[in-house]
Amino acid sequence: MEKILAIACDHGGYELKNAIIEQLKEKGIAYKDFGCYSTASVNYPDYAKVLCESIQSGECYRGILVCGTGIGMSIAANKHRGIRAACASDAFSVKYTRMHNDSNVLCLGGRVVGIGLGLELADIFINTEFEGGRHQARVDMIAEIEKSEAAK
Ligand code: RB5
Repeated sequence: MEKILAIACDHGGYELKNAIIEQLKEKGIAYKDFGCYSTASVNYPDYAKVLCESIQSGECYRGILVCGTGIGMSIAANKHRGIRAACASDAFSVKYTRMHNDSNVLCLGGRVVGIGLGLELADIFINTEFEGGRHQARVDMIAEIEKSEAAK
């Protein structure tokens, strides 16, 4: 089955999201765009929620969220079970959050990174694999924290 990348933004990330979509098209990467679809003001938690739910359901395997800073999206995304969202604005962090944290959502700040760097970071996020091994045990520990929090 084809792996589908989820992508969504708020108004602050609209321009970068569109640029990333163009890059995905050029590279023939399957994606699903969960909005928003203009620069009209919207609420980023709504978009974090639909994107995270698409990963939880298995419809999409990983996702990219873009807002003004990337921070609001990452805070909202990390409230979802099984979501490991990383807000990053440098290549090293994006590479290692995939390799070590198995991050399944990348949050970018459209007003922070701009188009050129944003495209590079999206590319690294898509093309870097989790290393597993000792890092799997740590990711499992995060899941345990999530479970114990849910039980409170
Ligand atoms: C919207 O103005 C802005 O607050 C949002 O895009 C994001 O940066 C929130 O974290």
